[in-house]
Amino acid sequence: MSPDSVDDTPGRGGHVAVAIDGPAASGKSSTAQWVAAELGFRHVDSGALYRATTAAALRSGVPPAEWTAAFLLTQAARVSLAPNETSFTPQVDGESVTEEIRRPDVTRGVPHVAQVPAVRTWVNAQVRAVARSHDVVCDGRDMGTAVFPDADLKVFLVADPWERARRRLIQRLSRGPTEEEIAEETDRLVQRDAADVTQTVQAKDAVLIDTTYLTQAEQVERIVALVRAARLRRPLTPWEGLPLVPPPADGSID
Ligand code: C5P
Repeated sequence: MSPDSVDDTPGRGGHVAVAIDGPAASGKSSTAQWVAAELGFRHVDSGALYRATTAAALRSGVPPAEWTAAFLLTQAARVSLAPNETSFTPQVDGESVTEEIRRPDVTRGVPHVAQVPAVRTWVNAQVRAVARSHDVVCDGRDMGTAVFPDADLKVFLVADPWERARRRLIQRLSRGPTEEEIAEETDRLVQRDAADVTQTVQAKDAVLIDTTYLTQAEQVERIVALVRAARLRRPLTPWEGLPLVPPPADGSID
C-alpha cells in the first residue's frame, strides 16, 4: 500500500482493538503476539513498520545524515505487511525483512526515522487499515493515544531497565548473560528510552502493568482477562442484547 493510497477513514466496523504500549524491551511484542493467539486476534507490531522503513532507507545507500522527510516517505512506500496466520510479516519491496529489522544499525537509526511526522502518519494509517478488517492486538509506543484513542482496552507495560536488559539478552543469546553484558544493554535501553520519550505516551485510561516480577504467562493471563472484561463492558449490539431464552408466554418470571 503506498502512502497516497492508504485508506485512513475512521472507524473499525465493529472490530476490536487492543493497544499495548511501553518502552523498549518491555515485552510488548511477544506479549501482544501471545494475547492475540489466545483470543484469535491478529497481532500488529507498529515498531516493525518503523524498523522496516529504516531498513529500506539503509538499503538505499543514502547516508543517514541525508535522510529527509520526503526521502523517508518514499522508503516507507516500499514497506508492506504480508498477512500470515496470526500476525503480519514486514516486507521491503515484497521481500521479508523479519531478521534484517532486528540488526543493530536498524535499531540505532529507527528513533530518528520515527520522529518524522509524515512517517508516523503513514505508519498509523497502516495499522488502522488492518484494524478495519481484523480484531487486533497492536503494540508500540502510541497505540492507545495517537492511533486508537477509542481502543477497547489499553495496556501500558513497564519493567525495571535491568530486568528488561536481562530478558532481551536471554532472548538474543539463548544463555544467561553476565552482569557486565546486562549493564551494557541497560545503558543502551536507557538511551533508546530517552530517544523515544516524546512518542512513548501512557494513555490516561490505560491499565499500567509492571512486569518486573511477572512471568510472561502471568502478563498474558492478566491482559486476556482484561480484554474479556472490557468486551463485556461494551454496549451490546442488538443481536448480543437478545434474550437467549424467550420469556414465558404468561409474562411470569422465575
Ligand atoms: O517496538 P520496537 O522497539 O521494535 O520499536 C522500534 C522503534 O520504533 C522504537 O525505538 C521507536 O523509535 C519506534 N516506534 C515508535 N512508535 C511506535 C512503535 C515504535 O516511535 N508506535
